[in-house]
Amino acid sequence: MILILQILMLILILALGKFIMIFIIFYADIRAAQKRDPAAKSALEVILLYPGLHALIYYRIAHVFYRMHLFFFARLISQLSRFFTGIEIHPGASIGKRFFIDHGLGVVIGETSVIGDDVLLYQGATLGGTGIAKGKRHPTLGNHVVVGAGAKVLGNITIGDNSYIGANAVVIKDVGPNSTVVGVPGRITKQDGRKMDTSLDHVHILDPIMQSMEELQARIKNLENK
Ligand SMILES: CC(C)(COP(=O)(O)OP(=O)(O)OC[C@H]1O[C@@H](n2cnc3c(N)ncnc32)[C@H](O)[C@@H]1OP(=O)(O)O)[C@@H](O)C(=O)NCCC(=O)NCCS
Repeated sequence: MILILQILMLILILALGKFIMIFIIFYADIRAAQKRDPAAKSALEVILLYPGLHALIYYRIAHVFYRMHLFFFARLISQLSRFFTGIEIHPGASIGKRFFIDHGLGVVIGETSVIGDDVLLYQGATLGGTGIAKGKRHPTLGNHVVVGAGAKVLGNITIGDNSYIGANAVVIKDVGPNSTVVGVPGRITKQDGRKMDTSLDHVHILDPIMQSMEELQARIKNLENK
């Protein structure tokens, strides 16, 4: 009986030790999760129940193996992470500080992706390639970028600092800083706090069907006003 109690105590101490270690090492990431998710009630909740944080912990370990050229172990850890969290971060990706993935399920981050500081990704976001080319083939995200739920950012493109990729957008071209991008293919609707007049902007409109729809809507509005 005493032996069982001693084993239970040991397990409890080890679990507590692990919890404290995670809290110290990942303090900045835990705080970022609490800041970015209004539903996060406590650090304990984030540490125990947030798949985004778990995936990040797995990634940080896998990345060390990747840098030591132990690619098999790196990939093994990342696949385990995918199994437990539903989030696939390639160990070769480069991720900055205070990174947070909210909800997480279905997020994919490719091998040559580069992610700045304070970036937020929602569920289903993909940082992917466009083909089977080798070399740098995944996006580079600046600091404070947000990628909405289900959005796809594809190819070796750059998303500037403070930009917001709307939910379900598909972005295949560079986006400057302080921009909001929505739609398929992605078009810039806001830049530096100013709304873009998409009916006049022929540089950023990439979708002719959308353009015609917007022109028709404007004409209907005009007629209705008359
Ligand atoms: C794009 C987004 C950031 C809105 O930014 P905003 O600057 O507040 O933009 P607005 O709401 O003023 O919308 C601007 C235009 O884009 C349209 N729009 C907004 N989000 C859009 C989207 N995801 N896809 C397509 N069009 C969108 C709006 O209808 C509006 O069109 P209009 O000018 O013709 O009326 C936001 O809608 C979004 O997609 N956020 C993602 C959040 C997310 O993924 N949450 C998941 C939580 S679980």
